[in-house]
Amino acid sequence: MKKIITYGTFDLLHWGHIRLLERAKELGDHLTVVLSTDEFNLLKDKKAFHNYEQRKYLLEAIKHVDKVIPETTWDQKIADIQTNQIDIFVMGDDWKGQFDFLTPYCNVCYLERTKNISTTYIKQQLAGSIEA
Ligand code: CTP
Repeated sequence: MKKIITYGTFDLLHWGHIRLLERAKELGDHLTVVLSTDEFNLLKDKKAFHNYEQRKYLLEAIKHVDKVIPETTWDQKIADIQTNQIDIFVMGDDWKGQFDFLTPYCNVCYLERTKNISTTYIKQQLAGSIEA
């Protein structure tokens, strides 16, 4: 069985997230999503609208997702890959090159980001700060 892992906050779930998860799952048989906790988001100066449990609940309802575990630190990736016997680490290409240091542990794959949608964009739209 080929196992995939990916990381993110996945707040205000949108089709860019779903497309990323769909394509990640297509690379193998089992997809683990490592989901930023609210405390880890604070460290990154991020504030999610939905809390960790709500974001986890949404992700677990998606057919492409097999397992959701918490991301609490930048430094857990190698341990996650080893513990979960991961074959492919997947991220959107906004992170291109930044996780190449994981190649001794598994394959690293950057998928093209979906254009014109992000959590930040949704928040800005709803705040009325940009035109529809
Ligand atoms: N992603 C994607 N296409 C988008 C938005 C996100 O492929 N349009 C991918 C990211 O590259 C990442 C994963 O989805 O691999 C989770 O991204 P996340 O940062 O949680 O979502 P964003 O919408 O980018 O959130 P923000 O605007 O807060 O950065």
